[in-house]
Amino acid sequence: MIANITSIRHDFPILNTKLPNGRPLVYLDSGASAQRPRSVINKITEIYEHYYSNVHRGAHQLGDRVTSEMESSRARIQSFIGASLPEEIIFTSGTTMSANLVAQTWGRHFLKDGDEIILNEMEHHANFVPWQKIAKERGVLLKFIQLTPDGRLDLEHYECLLTPKTKLVAVTGMSNVLGTINPVKYMAQRAHEVGALIFVDGAQSVTHQPVNVVESEIDFLAFSGHKLFGPSGIGVLYGRKTLLESMPPFLFGGNMIAEVTCEKSTYANIPARFEAGTPPITEAIALGTAIDYVMELGFDTIMEQESLLSQYTLQKLQEVPGLQIYGPLELEERGSIFSFNIEGAHPEDLATLLDRKGIAVRHGHHCTMPLHQHLNINASVRASLAFYNTTEEIDALINALEFARQRLRLA
Ligand code: ALA
Repeated sequence: MIANITSIRHDFPILNTKLPNGRPLVYLDSGASAQRPRSVINKITEIYEHYYSNVHRGAHQLGDRVTSEMESSRARIQSFIGASLPEEIIFTSGTTMSANLVAQTWGRHFLKDGDEIILNEMEHHANFVPWQKIAKERGVLLKFIQLTPDGRLDLEHYECLLTPKTKLVAVTGMSNVLGTINPVKYMAQRAHEVGALIFVDGAQSVTHQPVNVVESEIDFLAFSGHKLFGPSGIGVLYGRKTLLESMPPFLFGGNMIAEVTCEKSTYANIPARFEAGTPPITEAIALGTAIDYVMELGFDTIMEQESLLSQYTLQKLQEVPGLQIYGPLELEERGSIFSFNIEGAHPEDLATLLDRKGIAVRHGHHCTMPLHQHLNINASVRASLAFYNTTEEIDALINALEFARQRLRLA
């Protein structure tokens, strides 16, 4: 365990609370939504108590302050992902909105009959359904990279799927079920060789490892604030400047225009062109605070702690009788997300019994129905870890699984 784990946990007030049944919370559901440090909570309170107002409108001092803080947050996000320019950062409501934006603007504008998009079955519905929808509308063929038996992308098969007709490769940086970390840079380079773009769903990956969109040659990157220790309702779409400038707007209204007459409207430059209406102001500013927290802690510390936790979790889960883990078992191929089933137990029963012991996990298809169909299961239980978790909490999970096995008469 890293030396400062106790002080890190103190930064997250909710981790020290007790549940209504008196049990200490063991929060293993950060893949669904992570918890926030006190600095983020304080920032939200400070804004509402002292200087909340709308942005980009009016000349008053409050408006100036929130506008300048929102733009400062945009610049910190730019630096966090290694983007070249702040205007390449579009505030959205989250990963889902970011994917829909690209599908509905770039997709509708540039895709045509006979084009191809490369997907795969491990994608979250947010990086699946928007492409399926636009593909149907535009006569585009969806092609799927095969998965290996241990839940990685079959890269030889990927090579076979790429053709001059490929216009987009949509891939997750890290599977929200299998934990698989995908070789995004390699995939981007290969996509570019046939003239295709790459859209990366970074919802899970950006919280666990550093990303540099320029070095990794990523064309579009989407992620959500609430998984990155920030507020919900805010997310990011990164796009290369020339790409974003080539795309028509998606939502129409205030803030996104240059000039409006009764006859026609012209549109603002990026990023405003894609930010119609009043944005989630407090959330956008507090996302910058969350990123400050992550950067101060540092990815060296985050990755060290998560690697120790992953090693321990993999070892302990594999000792539970009848338990099957989905996804790679090699640490270098995966992050700290563990989905599993226990033979003879329904995932909902397992999750409910774990909850009685204070263990918060997710069960179901985790918005990845094609993956669950591929695995030939209806549902799974998922423990998703962050740097603030401890090996003691993994022990509590393992003890609770033993309790569940006894209750379900599997032991
Ligand atoms: N996308 C979130 C998850 O994987 C909600 O749980």
